[in-house]
Amino acid sequence: SRPVRVVVLGSGSWGTTVASLAAHNTRTTLWCRRPEVAEEINGERRNRQYLGERPLPDSLDATDDIESAASRADVLVVGVPSSAVRATLTEVAPTLRAWVPVLSLVKGLEAGSRMRPTQVVGECLPGHPVGLLAGPNIASEIIDGMAAAAVIATQDEHVATALQPLFAAPRFRVYRNTDVLGCELGGVLKNIVAIAAGMAEGLKVGDNTRAMVLARGLAEMMRLGEVMGADPRTFMGLTGMGDLIATCMSPASRNRRIGEALARGLSAAAAAKELGQVAEGVKTAPIVMQLAEEYGIDMPIAAEVEAVVSGRHTPEQAYAGLGTVPPGTDE
Ligand code: 13P
Repeated sequence: SRPVRVVVLGSGSWGTTVASLAAHNTRTTLWCRRPEVAEEINGERRNRQYLGERPLPDSLDATDDIESAASRADVLVVGVPSSAVRATLTEVAPTLRAWVPVLSLVKGLEAGSRMRPTQVVGECLPGHPVGLLAGPNIASEIIDGMAAAAVIATQDEHVATALQPLFAAPRFRVYRNTDVLGCELGGVLKNIVAIAAGMAEGLKVGDNTRAMVLARGLAEMMRLGEVMGADPRTFMGLTGMGDLIATCMSPASRNRRIGEALARGLSAAAAAKELGQVAEGVKTAPIVMQLAEEYGIDMPIAAEVEAVVSGRHTPEQAYAGLGTVPPGTDE
């Protein structure tokens, strides 16, 4: 039987990296919104804006024709920013064949609807099996071949089992998990904590502060996740604690870099402009604070991040705010 074709939508750093992983295993097409990016990949095996001089596999095929790419997909991977998921899937819906599984790489919530990316997939592409690939996966390290691991989360374990070998590599382990909600929320919520970690770096805090931000940030993620219906144990795994640690520690993290820029006194808009890439945590923080209020969950770190990105607090005020714990507060 002919090998399956994986089609990846979105040629940012992670979309390009996941497409490169798949291209070593099966026929793979990467859809690029900008034709010049598709040309650079096909002609020079580079995506310089996002991955510098790192060579991409010769077998990776890039295109800017989304309808034709979608029509040939046996597996569809969604690697566009959360703000573009709905519009992009609306474009592929007419040509995507029935039953094609859809895997989200997206770690943000949709503004307005507050839906998770897999929920947006479910609405735009009803009837398709849906899941996500997440974990501590800084793109540049993975394309450089450094050891890493990720999780494919799907309700249907057979779908995950079929997808695992398409994305695995000798030094890239791909696990399964059926807690789609918990895995997806881990990737979404850690970005907000990473902005806090970046602010901490910028303010030149100590290691105790770093550890506090991670541990208490994880507690907030678990509390919200559990009331929303996730298995709290999921947050101790790759998509929770794992991705939280990688994103908070890595100087390459976009969300952490936003936090560092905020600590230099830049506004969130100026920090985003300087970064030139999408850091999902900026727009996710206000959405998550709405959810925290609705569910009655205390999220002091996320609340301070939201106050800083919306310009109500300075990073210094945010850190002063984290020093006070009302009497009677349990860990
Ligand atoms: P950033 O979006 O902050 O770069 O995080 C990358 C990531 O999710 C690594 O797993």
